[in-house]
Amino acid sequence: MCGIVGYVGQKQVGSEVVIEGLRALEYRGYDSAGIAFLRSDKTLCLEKAVGRVQNLEGQLEQIDDTKATAAIGHTRWATHGAPTVGNAHPHYNADRSIAVTHNGIIENYLELKQELEAAGYEFVSETDTEVIPHLIEFHTNRSKTFISGLEKAISRLRGAYALAIVTTKTPDTIYAARLSSPLVLGIAKSAAYIASDPMAITSHTKDVVYLNDYELAAVHKDGSYDIRDYKRAQTVNRKAERLEHNHASGELGNYEHFMLKEMHEIPDTIRAATQGRIRPDSNTVKLGGLESVADQLRFIDRIVIVACGTSYYAGLVGEYLIEEIAGIPVEVQLASEFKYRNEPFSRGTALLAISQSGETADTIAALKKVENYGVLRLGVVNAVGSTIARMTDSGVYCHAGPEQAVASTKAFVAQVSVLTLIALHLSGGNSPLYKPILHELEHLPAKAESILAQAKDIEKLAHKYKDARDFLFIGRNYGYPCALEGALKLKEISYIHAEAYAAGEMKHGPLAMIDENFPTLAIATDSPLLEKTISNIQEIKARKGLVLAIATEGNKDIKRLVSDAFYIPGSLEQTQPILIALVEMLFAYYVAIANGHNVDRPRNLAKSVTVE
Ligand code: AGP
Repeated sequence: MCGIVGYVGQKQVGSEVVIEGLRALEYRGYDSAGIAFLRSDKTLCLEKAVGRVQNLEGQLEQIDDTKATAAIGHTRWATHGAPTVGNAHPHYNADRSIAVTHNGIIENYLELKQELEAAGYEFVSETDTEVIPHLIEFHTNRSKTFISGLEKAISRLRGAYALAIVTTKTPDTIYAARLSSPLVLGIAKSAAYIASDPMAITSHTKDVVYLNDYELAAVHKDGSYDIRDYKRAQTVNRKAERLEHNHASGELGNYEHFMLKEMHEIPDTIRAATQGRIRPDSNTVKLGGLESVADQLRFIDRIVIVACGTSYYAGLVGEYLIEEIAGIPVEVQLASEFKYRNEPFSRGTALLAISQSGETADTIAALKKVENYGVLRLGVVNAVGSTIARMTDSGVYCHAGPEQAVASTKAFVAQVSVLTLIALHLSGGNSPLYKPILHELEHLPAKAESILAQAKDIEKLAHKYKDARDFLFIGRNYGYPCALEGALKLKEISYIHAEAYAAGEMKHGPLAMIDENFPTLAIATDSPLLEKTISNIQEIKARKGLVLAIATEGNKDIKRLVSDAFYIPGSLEQTQPILIALVEMLFAYYVAIANGHNVDRPRNLAKSVTVE
């Protein structure tokens, strides 16, 4: 989704730093980009372009003087108004002395716009953001200092925002403010940075200061900064912290797409998520992140998992795992629904948020909802230092590294791996499944490697099914969330209509859709329920439906029954989801490629969904 980068420093490298930062954020999905920088003559130069950051760079090349000691930039994912140059950020006031980039949505923008129009301000875009520079002008003109007027203006905004502001009035300082949208300052010796994602600035500094809600920061060209909490009207003293982890954007290497690269990283992802946490010598699981809440965890009698999209489906796998292995009732809710539900919530319930980015607005809102309930808030998060990672009481990192393709692949695998460890941890070793699962987790990377080695076979299957207009995914028990995730993967990158059903539900409606043009991907791997799934496949076959099955190696019978089968190595039912998901991802990838789609940046989607 939208991305923000800002620079202020002694060196005149603002434009380059911002463009480089915007490039690092490209993977998040966007439709236009823009930059505002302060020239040496203290005038503000604004450039915007529809499409790629590359287009913006092309425009900058036509400009004589792009040297800047202060600059802000933005990649926009349209919410209010079409993706046009006029709607692209930065937005500015009439005399172009103030420029603003904004992530989020200003909910009261219409009210503010009317008020400003009545005061004589004119608007040139369809965006909600444009009220901000005018509002800043209005208040700073009536205040003693720029910062005090800025504070008044920002205090009037409702909704969600991360802002970066540059002005000719204070050329040595740029500003940042946030409410419900991530923003971080990067601090260096003679420069300071602003970014919506640390990935945009870690090539310059690893010393960062995360802003909290209702904080306004002034960052200066000598690398110093002042933060004020404008809700409580007090100064905030917060030291920079060092990012120890590698936020590097990662290169494509020899891969054609990030999605392919990230699927090939899956064996290592499983290792990274489990290594050091499994002690095979003593047959124990050690989750450092949960140690500080060990006492509270003992009293938990229910877990509510909240997440969106793929993370939600990982949560559904987690539900089966935690209930079966640890015997604790689990409910999985879509974060977007959870936040508006009025349900009883006891103190014995823990809320577990799952998120790759750690910045998903709905999941953050779900965590906020229970803020004053006195309940334990846990996180399974990939992005270290992200908002969700910081707002939960405790949690377990996925350690999947940066995931750049919009379609989640290795992050899903890491989430399921971590949820498996959490289930084992919560069982206290009292489940008969404890040792077999621990043991199997060690073998999973090699099994994932063997699937990747057969990617060509999956590609052939994808070519056979690439023209389908609809697809059904079915599975039972652990196979059911896998079916849901497989259908999501196919629809998001290939735009083929795909639906998932619990196989047992076929007779209750979906069977009516089946004919020779409506293929089914059936998860028919080894499980105590396999025979029942086979019966469901028979029912589909009887209606002339084509069936592509994912089965377990050695099951020759299934080959005779279905149109096509892909075999995965034998594994426990509880650990199969990781292998099944890998096959589904590869299948969706090759179908999308065969249809000529941009797999890394599918239409209409953004990597990190920071608005409701
Ligand atoms: C999955 O392929 C999607 N990109 C999407 O469903 C994603 O999982 C969802 O938006 C949640 O994101 P998060 O894990 O970063 O919170």
